[in-house]
Amino acid sequence: MKLQLHYYDVLESTNITAVDAALHGAAEGSVIVAGKQCGASGRMGRVWNSPNGGLWFSVILRPRINPENVAQLTLLAGVAVAKALSFLYETEDVKIKWPNDLLLQGKKICGILSEMKLDENGLIDYAILGIGVNVNLQRSDFPTEIQHIATSLLLATGKSFSCNEVLQRILQEMSSLYEIWLEHGPESLFTQWKHYSCTLGQKVLVKDNDRIIFSGTAVDMGVQGSLLVCNEDGIQRSFDFGEISIR
Ligand code: BTN
Repeated sequence: MKLQLHYYDVLESTNITAVDAALHGAAEGSVIVAGKQCGASGRMGRVWNSPNGGLWFSVILRPRINPENVAQLTLLAGVAVAKALSFLYETEDVKIKWPNDLLLQGKKICGILSEMKLDENGLIDYAILGIGVNVNLQRSDFPTEIQHIATSLLLATGKSFSCNEVLQRILQEMSSLYEIWLEHGPESLFTQWKHYSCTLGQKVLVKDNDRIIFSGTAVDMGVQGSLLVCNEDGIQRSFDFGEISIR
């Protein structure tokens, strides 16, 4: 994948700019990066805190694949970030909470918001992977209500990191995972995702927004990258949306 980076000091949201660029024909591999975002979105319609000091970017992809498989790209982004942070931070302590929260020492260090659009033939027009990594954020950079559940590379290590270096490493991991995924399918991706997962084997509550819709043990990953959850009565269900919280 040929990468083309576009830097902005401030954007409302790199995802908004990426969607706009994709609609105007931006090529696969275009990357929109912002020093800070003033209206960034998280999953479930939440606000995403993005002051200076973090790494906020969105990657445009145009895979010619069955749209059923596009959700796997979110897993791919999670694995790319997990590999990059593990390398840079030299730790085994980076985990992925299904589907795409990255945790360091049990606290959230990165979130991923993916969006996609189909064309008139039902094929993928574009997919956007919006990634936010708390690189050099201080505790006071986080809103009070999330200070106990969020972390940054700076808070975890006491060291400042170059956002550019973190970006380069994530893009390098992402490109190579993407080529393998396009050529050989998702097996290797799933194996790597399972390696980093802190969700499999755990008791989970499956929530749709804030409503609990199922509870049980996360037993495996399904064929399309969904999460298989088995309850106490042995009923197994597959989830590819909603939110998982670990009991
Ligand atoms: C989450 O809720 O965990 C997902 C957060 C995703 C944040 C990133 S930062 C770059 C991109 N632009 C946005 O507006 N959101 C994503």
